Amino acid sequence: MPDTTSTKKPAPNVSEHPMMDEVIRCEKLTKLYPAGNILAVDQLNMTVHHGEIFGLLGPNGAGKTTTVGMLTTLVVPTSGKAIVGGIDVVAHPSLVKQVIGVVSQTNNLDRSLTVWENLYYHGLFFGMKSREARAAADKLLVEFRLTERAKAEVMAISGGMAKRLQVARALLHSPSVLFLDEPTAGLDPQSRLALWEILRKLHAEGQTILLTTHYMEEADSICDRLAIMDHGHILAVNTPKGLKESVGADSIVTISAAGNLDALAALLKEKIEGATKSQRVDNVIQLHIKGASGVLPKVVSIAEQAGFNITDLSVAEPTLETVFINLTGKELRD
Ligand SMILES: Nc1ncnc2c1ncn2[C@@H]1O[C@H](COP(=O)(O)OP(=O)(O)OP(=O)(O)O)[C@@H](O)[C@H]1O
Ligand SMILES: [Mg+2]
Repeated sequence: MPDTTSTKKPAPNVSEHPMMDEVIRCEKLTKLYPAGNILAVDQLNMTVHHGEIFGLLGPNGAGKTTTVGMLTTLVVPTSGKAIVGGIDVVAHPSLVKQVIGVVSQTNNLDRSLTVWENLYYHGLFFGMKSREARAAADKLLVEFRLTERAKAEVMAISGGMAKRLQVARALLHSPSVLFLDEPTAGLDPQSRLALWEILRKLHAEGQTILLTTHYMEEADSICDRLAIMDHGHILAVNTPKGLKESVGADSIVTISAAGNLDALAALLKEKIEGATKSQRVDNVIQLHIKGASGVLPKVVSIAEQAGFNITDLSVAEPTLETVFINLTGKELRD
């Protein structure tokens, strides 16, 4: 029986109301580029929750940028639906623009403005008063360690600094969700780690983030959940840990050898205790092992007895690369 004695409504609890927890929702979102008749994104269903770092991981041409393009109103969907910050991207693109921050893969800072001015004018563009935009720009320069270069031309700063400035600018109007397309592509390792630290800090502050990447280490290291994409489809969505566990093995043995690799793969699957799967991936064999130890010497002796010459052998825990190979039969790396 509902309690009719109280007129006071309880505060909404997002965990009990999943719809309120959603910052992004796509339903059958599709993009067919008429030029070349390319189906870049095919009936994509996806939900991103408040406060999570969600990753789209996939190889070149998977449809990551097109997906982000549709969610950020730069690409018009062919069909399907996308809701961002509670707003329909097709029906109200200009409203969506106000609640999102976008860091594109290319450097799209205004070259005619200084570092500080890039932030300040962005604030004015988003309707802030001059004093408010000034204060926000100053604060973000400190937070992103750019104060010393405030008066520099944007062409004069390093790639890592330019990317930090793009992120700072995208955050200036306090967006509900921050989109980053390949945020660390082309950055040196130190700048990449610095950007990861920034994203982790934003995450700790509750910022919802959607990023695309083709670096599995990046997806593994900073995403709460990720979608593995290929050919315009999402093949799996889970936490990095959940995806790796889905492989169903605790170690992966990689074997290089001369001869008929398909035959050797079948032989190892049959003879090695704990082998759950054995397959040829390009020029190597990947043998999945569960609950068995001391596998390497056995692999060597079985292969040699059958006349195979092993040229390289290694063992590792499953990675997102293993997950991708399991799903597609090919490697994620180019
Ligand atoms: N404007 C366009 N016109 C026609 N085809 C396009 C256009 N933009 C992208 N495509 C094609 O759509 C497919 C998906 O491209 P998209 O850029 O979304 O992939 P991506 O996952 O971001 O790849 P990358 O890792 O290379 O950035 C590719 O086949 C690409 O060639
Ligand atoms: Mg892209």
